[in-house]
Amino acid sequence: MPIQTVEGEISRRNFILSAAGGIVLLGAGMAGLSGCDSRTGGAATVALPELPYKENALEPYISRKTIGFHHGKHHGAYVDRTLELIKGTPLAGLSLKDIVQKTSGFADKASTFNNAAQSWNHDFYWKSLAPGGGGKPEGEMARRLDAAFGSYENFKKELTSAAMSQFGSGWAWLVVEEDRLKVVNTSNAETPIIHGQVPLLTIDVWEHAYYLDYQNLRSDYVKNVIEHLINWKFAESNLPVA
Ligand SMILES: [Fe+2]
Repeated sequence: MPIQTVEGEISRRNFILSAAGGIVLLGAGMAGLSGCDSRTGGAATVALPELPYKENALEPYISRKTIGFHHGKHHGAYVDRTLELIKGTPLAGLSLKDIVQKTSGFADKASTFNNAAQSWNHDFYWKSLAPGGGGKPEGEMARRLDAAFGSYENFKKELTSAAMSQFGSGWAWLVVEEDRLKVVNTSNAETPIIHGQVPLLTIDVWEHAYYLDYQNLRSDYVKNVIEHLINWKFAESNLPVA
């Protein structure tokens, strides 16, 4: 049974980590699980991170009300559910990223995967945005966008198209795949980290990300995120080291 193999790997890794001195926060990487609230439950590795800015910092493009609900209620619920599902299992104690990657593709772990992946994706989304962001990047990101897409304008069209063509709930991403930048979209909780891609930035296109501010006008939300909120410094920090 595949899951026995997976859980065997998890148990071995837990043992190694315990032996290494009780390190519980491992492999957080880009997930950056700092600044946790009461959902941490002490030594847990899955938690709701604090926002990297105030709830009203992205106005007028995303309101304080949207950020408050999206972070506190939606993201918070994914974290809570993940904690419930991993409690008492070999997954407890692993990093969020490890939980996502260990449960991907296993039908009997679908609920854990969905909640853990949504927790990871949202953490990455908050960091993909910044007040005063957006527009054309400079330096290395500008060079990499030109190399992959021909121009910033072409990149912008591709990212917009990925965000708009995602039917129903999902995500639009800029990723690195085999050393080349690429725009992709994913459905529901699906995430590039299960496909060997390195995410640089993401746009949440679930309705809860924009409905209070834009109602059905996803295109206006996507346009404003791209033009005013993308955190290019964060994207550049995620570029794999050559
Ligand atoms: Fe969301």
